[in-house]
Amino acid sequence: MTVLAVQGLKKVYPSPGQPLCVLNNVEFELRSGDRVAILGPSGSGKSTLLNIIGGLDQPTEGRVVVDGQVVSEMPERELSRYRNRTVGFVFQDHHLLPQCTVLENVLVPCLASGSPQQDDVNWALALLDRVGLKDRVWHRPGELSGGERQRVAIARALIRRPALILADEPTGNLDRSTGEQVAQLLVELHQEQNNILIVVTHSEHLAGVIGKQCRLENGQLRWENV
Ligand SMILES: Nc1ncnc2c1ncn2[C@@H]1O[C@H](COP(=O)(O)OP(=O)(O)OP(=O)(O)O)[C@@H](O)[C@H]1O
Ligand SMILES: [Mg+2]
Repeated sequence: MTVLAVQGLKKVYPSPGQPLCVLNNVEFELRSGDRVAILGPSGSGKSTLLNIIGGLDQPTEGRVVVDGQVVSEMPERELSRYRNRTVGFVFQDHHLLPQCTVLENVLVPCLASGSPQQDDVNWALALLDRVGLKDRVWHRPGELSGGERQRVAIARALIRRPALILADEPTGNLDRSTGEQVAQLLVELHQEQNNILIVVTHSEHLAGVIGKQCRLENGQLRWENV
């Protein structure tokens, strides 16, 4: 069981005029099996929030605590491990390596601890089967459709069985029906893996597929339908 606690989170960016307060006392707690969609206008701080939770950015005040450990206080080695093991990121523009095959792309997170083991390869193939890409493992990203690339990115995010899946507009580039399939897949894998799933989306419809929703506006997170 993993517990994610976001406590009194504040993020202020310096700017030539007034400092820009993007997050202002954001607080919530999620545990394994929880999933939530975060909605909010462009520039409201959704990516900033995900990046802070994922250990890619530092808060100005407050903290993110995962299983009793404060992310912003982790020494560098532990932070790398946290990013690699505990967190699975799905980016909007998927960040796949163009020169690598689909299978190699999924295995990239395993390279942090040496070369991938047979177990990793088996799990990668199982995940690719799960996301409907069994017949595409030797393709390169340039030979895939947008939805297929996004599904590779999902498989890659799950390869280390992370406790926390952070997806930043994972369906942003997709048509509605492909987007819906990708969101459905995230939910199914979330249920199988019993992780914490946080999905940032602009689409009310996709937020509905995820279930529980909250809205980030003026630095504050407002929970809906809870
Ligand atoms: N490094 C930075 N320095 C200064 N301001 C920044 C920086 N990064 C982000 N911002 C500002 O913080 C605000 C929030 O950015 P963020 O990327 O979190 O928004 P978002 O909700 O993800 O928006 P979108 O829906 O467009 O992706 C924006 O107004 C942006 O200009
Ligand atoms: Mg964003």
